Formats: sequence, C-alpha cells, structure tokens
Amino acid sequence: MGETIYGLRRTHRCTELTSADVGKKVTVMGWAHKRRNLGSLLFVDLRDRTGLLQIVFNSDTDEQIFEKAEAIRNEFVLAVVGEVVRRAPEAINPNMKTGEIEIAASELRILSASETPPIQIEEDSGVNEAMRLKYRYLDLRRPDMQEGLLLRHRVAKIARDYFDAEGFIEIETPMLIKSSPEGARDYLVPSRVHPGKFFALPQSPQLFKQLLMVSGFDRYIQITKCFRDEDLRADRQPEFTQIDLEMSFVEVDDVLAVNEGFIKKAFKEALGIEVPTPILRMTYQEAMDRFGSDKPDIRFGMELVNVSDMVANCGFKVFTDAIGNGGSVRAINAKGCGAFSRKEIDGLVEFVKTYRAKGMAWIAVGEGEIRSSITKFFSEEEMKSLLDRTDAKPGDLICFVADSNQVVYDALGALRVEIARRLDILDKNEFKFLWVTEFPLLEYDEEEKRWVAKHHPFTSPMDEDLEYLESDPGRVRAKAYDIVLNGTELGGGSIRIHMQELQSKMFRLLGFSQEEAYAKFGYLLDAFRFGVPPHGGMAYGLDRMIMLMAGKSSIRDVIAFPKVQNASDLMTNAPDLVDEKQLAELHIDISQ
Ligand code: AMO
Ligand code: AMP
Repeated sequence: MGETIYGLRRTHRCTELTSADVGKKVTVMGWAHKRRNLGSLLFVDLRDRTGLLQIVFNSDTDEQIFEKAEAIRNEFVLAVVGEVVRRAPEAINPNMKTGEIEIAASELRILSASETPPIQIEEDSGVNEAMRLKYRYLDLRRPDMQEGLLLRHRVAKIARDYFDAEGFIEIETPMLIKSSPEGARDYLVPSRVHPGKFFALPQSPQLFKQLLMVSGFDRYIQITKCFRDEDLRADRQPEFTQIDLEMSFVEVDDVLAVNEGFIKKAFKEALGIEVPTPILRMTYQEAMDRFGSDKPDIRFGMELVNVSDMVANCGFKVFTDAIGNGGSVRAINAKGCGAFSRKEIDGLVEFVKTYRAKGMAWIAVGEGEIRSSITKFFSEEEMKSLLDRTDAKPGDLICFVADSNQVVYDALGALRVEIARRLDILDKNEFKFLWVTEFPLLEYDEEEKRWVAKHHPFTSPMDEDLEYLESDPGRVRAKAYDIVLNGTELGGGSIRIHMQELQSKMFRLLGFSQEEAYAKFGYLLDAFRFGVPPHGGMAYGLDRMIMLMAGKSSIRDVIAFPKVQNASDLMTNAPDLVDEKQLAELHIDISQ
C-alpha cells in the first residue's frame, strides 16, 4: 500500500458496512450528500459510488469536531474516522442499505470544498438536459447514471467472457482508415504528411473483420467505437460502440445460435432475466405485412390487416385508386380506442400524415352504434364485413390507410406503436426479442436513381434468388438478419459474399465501374483472389442494448460523455475552432 491521505487510509466503501460491523473503527471517504443540523447533533449522508452512509457528529462528545463539521456543505469531499454504531430503533431507515447503522465520528478531514452545485445530485432531479450535459461530471454522480455505466461495464465483460469461451479472439482494427462511399457520411481526418488527403474514421470494422477471416482467425470479436456523421436521434450518436463479431465456415443458423447464447447469458447474468430460446424468427416480408415495420415491437398485437380485396370495387376513390396504382388498403384495430373523441381521432390522422399518408379513414364501434368517416361509401353489409375482417368489437377503433405499400406500412406501423404508447400498454420490464431475416438485398434510391445495398455491399444474396440478381434485383433476398428488442434494432449482420466474381457483380449492380470498385475496395477484391472462407457475422449497438436493459429512453443516458442533437459536446465545447498554425500544417484553408 502506498501513501495515506492526510494520514488516513480508507477502510470501507460506504455501503460495505453492515450491522455486523458494529463496534469497529472505520475510515470512510466520499461526498457530503445531505446535511441536517439538529443543534447538538449534526448528520451527514456520505455518498460514494456504492451508496449512502449516515455520519453523526455529536457536540456533547466532541465539541471541536462538531464545529469543524458545521462547515460541511453539500458535495464537500470528506474523510471520516469513527465507530460503527447501531441506530436507535426509531431512527432505522429501511429504505437505505445502511439504514440500521451510522458512524459516530471521532475525526474529520475536509479533503476538498465545493461550491453550490448548479444541478442537484439526485435521481430524476428534473434539471434540463443541457445543464446536465454541461456539468456531466456532476450529473454522473447521480446513482441512476452510475448504475447505467456499471451495467454497461458488466455487459461488456460478459460479452468478452462469453465470446472468449466460444473461441472468439479480440483483435483491434484501425481507427484511421480509407473513406468508403457506401453507408452513412464519414468523419474525415486530414493528413499532415499527405497534403490534400484524408483518412476516415470507421463506420464499423466491417472490411477489416472480413480480412481477418481471410487471414484465418476463424472467430473474431471486438468491442469498439464506430463513427457516423448522420442526423442524431434518441438512439443514435455520432460515435457509438459496437460489439462486433465475425465467424468463418458458417451459415445463418450458426451465427444466430451463437448469438442467442450471448443474449441469454447477458440478460441472465446482468439482469436476472431468462430469455427463452430459440428466439422467434420472422422474415422481413412477414414483419412488414403483420407489423408494418422491419423492427416490430411484439409486446402487443394490433397487427395490420389487408382489406384490399374487400374494397377493390367499393365506391371510395381513395381506396380504389391506391389499389389500382399497385398499392393497398390496410387497417389496424386500435383495441379500446372506440370512444376516442373526434379531436383525438383527428390527432391520429395528423400523426399518420407525418408518415406521408394522405389521410386515415376510421370506424369507431360503439355499443350498437357506429361512427365513421367513410359511412357514405359503404353499404351496411360491406361495413359489417370490414369489421369482421378486423375482428372489431364494441369499443374498438378501426384505422385505414390507403397508399403505396411502403407508405401504408410506415404509417400503420408507426400508428400501432403510437396507440400503444397512448394506451400506456408498453412494459419496459418485458423483453421481447425477435430475429428478422431474409431482408431485401437492395433497395432503389429514387434520388440517386440506382440500387443501393440495404445492409451493405458485402452481404450475400440468398442462393435461391441468385438467378434474379440482374433481371429483377428488387426481388432478391439477402442472407441478412437483425436482432430486434421491443421495437428497437439492437444489432444486425449477414453472411458475406466470399467469391470475387459475385462481389464484382454486386459492385456493378450498385453502379460502380470496375475502376471505381477497384479504387475504393481494391484491397478486398485482391484478397478474394487468395482463398476466402465462407463467413458471416453481426454487430450489436452496445449503447442501445444498455439503454433498453437499463429502462432508459435515450442512449445518452448510458454514455458517459455523449453529444447533443447537433453533434456537439456541451461540456468541452467540441467541435471548436483550431489555430491557424494547425490548419496550415494540415494544408487546410478555411478563409473562403
Ligand atoms: P449496422 O450498421 O446495422 O451494421 O450497425 C450495427 C448496430 O449498431 C448500432 N448503431 C448505432 N448505435 C448508435 N448510434 C448510431 N449512430 C448507430 N448506428 C448503428 C445499431 C445497429 O443495429 N458492419 C455491420 C454489422 C455486420 O454486418 O456485421 C454494421 O455496422 O444497434
Ligand atoms: P374525404 O372524402 O376526403 O372526406 O375522406 C374521407 C375519409 O378518408 C377521411 O377520414 C380521410 O381522412 C380518409 N382518407 C383520405 N385519404 C386517405 C388515404 N389515403 N387512406 C385512408 N384514408 C384516407
């Protein structure tokens, strides 16, 4: 042991002491959380990362130390020597881990003083987030913030232990890499040595982990930072952490099986929650048809119902036009919303419009009477069959959207979740996992007028769809999968292309000339000439995983020093201006 602090050495953390320690002389150190002066007795709740411990200063037994203690203010850092004593029965606090004991102080050192903190160090202190982020080091003193980061540490450790036991090797991949054009926008880093040239920060270790498979490492894992310059949301940060893995000589089932083992272990060991396996699987198409989303929340029903066949010849032009244009008419049964007022229903119509729907038709089923925005277009008979198809009961509200399939899926998929929120039926302590499989390989980008990879350009098409790759790219499904938890995409991956010819064909489909493909991904195409094992893998968003495990609604709450909406750091003020000299060295001129 090294030096002591002002002659003292800490013997225990605050909540390591129990009534079994009564009579012991101990030294504790921490922050003054709260203080109460009762005249001859002064109580201080001492806080460290384990929790609170009550210290008592008694002017009758020691006047000098009492006077010294009177100077204590919230957030002062203290060292206290004293005896562990049992509290009087009426003073026992059952809500406190150390509620049966207190420390009768015999020595006090004020190790450092504190100004009045600008935010309160309390759970749900109600302070606005900007203040919390500006004084993040104080915000991180709050017990629930500490618990979140502790959980994060535990899950990362479980991941390392689990994958190690499964034969995965942790290998670091570089942070300064070549910019790649597919995916999100890159963060660029100028090179001093190569004027006008730039590194990119990795959006993921994707190509390096594939090259590690080419090298024969067989199973790789890394818990690593990724960087994406994209618009921020509650579940997106410009730098975030992935648990990233890759395996050789595997097909989809092998990857899913090893990952189910991890999920099971992580939830069991970190939260005591049993995740039933095998985890439910659903194809992308089924997820869209039933839930209008490729990351459905399956904690509740209200599934989409296709009524196109029933309304194809009805008198409502909005419906018949949508079907005539290749779209559809679908509905959800908002169970128990039949008594919504006209104003509430109009609110739902406005909600679906934010998802590009042009409107929302509805039928509210009461006891014996029906209210509807489309009565005039349907006979009583037709109305009844629509209600039958949607399993409508008195008290239900049936909501219809007619449009292209994509708009119908997006609008009803989001409406379903919105209604569940309004009804407050989502239990954050219930964890419903789902694999979504067989994603489309490509999607058409209307702006760029070309096909783009839905996952990334290295994802393998499904064998049975290979024949359509050139004739009908839109119908080709991929060996790609996402793991979804309560409506959040937790992670995703795929089996990769491992044949050079197919990879070149894929680049051609995405609109790269052979020269462009070589300029961007030449090292990968080269590697494909020298013996590549079939391989695949996936990556979890660790921040999202911890957010859901901790019951938080933003990943900012489980990241020690996160960024805000406009991708800046309110504490350090990054990004910031730099010296002319630094810019000159980097050959950057921002004077224009
Ligand atoms: P993908 O792009 O799907 O796949 O990313 C994997 C997971 O990372 C998380 N994630 C994010 N978390 C926070 N902020 C962000 N901006 C952000 N972007 C992504 C999500 C997502 O599911 N290389 C592939 C994986 C593979 O194929 O093996 C990849 O990066 O939870
Ligand atoms: P209108 O005849 O314009 O009053 O529309 C009758 C009902 O149909 C209203 O409740 C509209 O919100 C609804 N509606 C309009 N466009 C659509 C659409 N694309 N899909 C579903 N309902 C719609």
